[in-house]
Amino acid sequence: MALRSGFSSRLGFVAAASGSAVGLGNIWAFPYITGENGGAAFLLIYICCTFLIGFPIMVGEIAVGRKAKANPYGAYKLLGGKRWSVVGLLGILCGIMILSFYNVVAGWAFGYFIQIGFGDLLAQGDFGSFFGGYVADYSDNLVYSFVFMVLTAIIVIGGVKQGIELAAKILMPFLFIILFGLIIYAMTLDNAMDGLAFYLKPDFSLVNAKTIYSAFGQAFFSLSLGMGALITYGSYISKNENIISAAAIVTVADVLVAFLAGLLIFPLVFSQGQDPTEGPGLVFVVLPGVFQQIGPIAGRVIGGGFFLLLCMAALTSTISLLEVPVAYFVDQKKWPRKLVVAGLAAVVFSIGLLSMLSQGAVDGLTNFLFYEGKSQTFLDFISHVFLDVSLPLGGFLLSIFVAYKLKTKNLSEEIAHGNSGYVGSNIEKFINFSLTVLCPIALGIIFVVTVLQKFGNVHIF
Ligand code: TRP
Repeated sequence: MALRSGFSSRLGFVAAASGSAVGLGNIWAFPYITGENGGAAFLLIYICCTFLIGFPIMVGEIAVGRKAKANPYGAYKLLGGKRWSVVGLLGILCGIMILSFYNVVAGWAFGYFIQIGFGDLLAQGDFGSFFGGYVADYSDNLVYSFVFMVLTAIIVIGGVKQGIELAAKILMPFLFIILFGLIIYAMTLDNAMDGLAFYLKPDFSLVNAKTIYSAFGQAFFSLSLGMGALITYGSYISKNENIISAAAIVTVADVLVAFLAGLLIFPLVFSQGQDPTEGPGLVFVVLPGVFQQIGPIAGRVIGGGFFLLLCMAALTSTISLLEVPVAYFVDQKKWPRKLVVAGLAAVVFSIGLLSMLSQGAVDGLTNFLFYEGKSQTFLDFISHVFLDVSLPLGGFLLSIFVAYKLKTKNLSEEIAHGNSGYVGSNIEKFINFSLTVLCPIALGIIFVVTVLQKFGNVHIF
């Protein structure tokens, strides 16, 4: 295989992989899911899922990528043969399909950034109906999500070092600075402490099987697992790097940002007496109301800053989603990177139009299918198939692959490069136990439950 470019250092990999992990999942989804599921009780379960299941899968993905030095398809094919390569293809398809709607939501965040920071969005009366109208009116969204896709493509065209790594090294520190600045501001507001109490006082009475199920799904998506994004990034790191410590830093950074997003959002929400259990509308409906009450100038700055944060988090994630199919075509077909990126960005954007138009603009896409007792949009359907169902399946298959096809002995040998004390250590025992027993069981159950629940007309929760 031709010389593969790679990250320049461990820091480069850690920045890029944390950038991939930290995204809409942390700042948009985590706070509202936590709000719905008992605050800190959910947080605790989420952290357990992250370390028991997420971390070992992350280590497995990175090791498989580095061992094969290839995209997910090439990696499974090289290490497992033709049949296993289908798993890699599934991952590549997931990258395309998840990005198609993720970019639409990122476009909403981008539009809110522009229109709160520089327009008159905060002058609206009712943010609930405003948001409904906003996502249904595709003229603005078309522009914002197009710009977002172009930004993503420009970075990915730059390649691993000059594109992905550089962007992450610039965006991630900025993201932390904005996040900390906003948290400090939020803490000074009246009733901020009530928000903290809601967030940090566990209410175990709200914990049930569904909470645990949501925590697994959220942890998995947030760490960017199950479709080979980290196989791809792992293929770009050198044999001297310590995979365990790199994965540990990425995992901690991801949990930290989710945790910090809660420290920001709950004080903001409580400062204006708003409802923390609002659900998916928390960021797009409740927060604008909060920013409006903060005052015309401060609201613009704080609100604009918040949505800029969301955009930066989303951008380092969209580049990782795009890099997976890009690596496939560049590695396997030897097509020029520029052409592949441009072509894929166009295809992904076009598929995304269907999700964009499914938010009220076109009835056939808005009421696309009926299952789980309600009408589902095209965006819902794609996210259910490629995110809720396919990612746990991808993770399940990765653990089976590592444990029973590649074998943990070979996994350990790969991890031992750059980590000479690994073989025989407790961490090795834990990783192997998790990948052989915990992950297949947990992810297998999640997969089956999700399929039955969503498409099998079985009401489990
Ligand atoms: N982890 C990102 C988030 O929290 C989303 C993401 C980026 C992702 N790349 C991925 C999820 C690969 C699964 C697989 O928003």
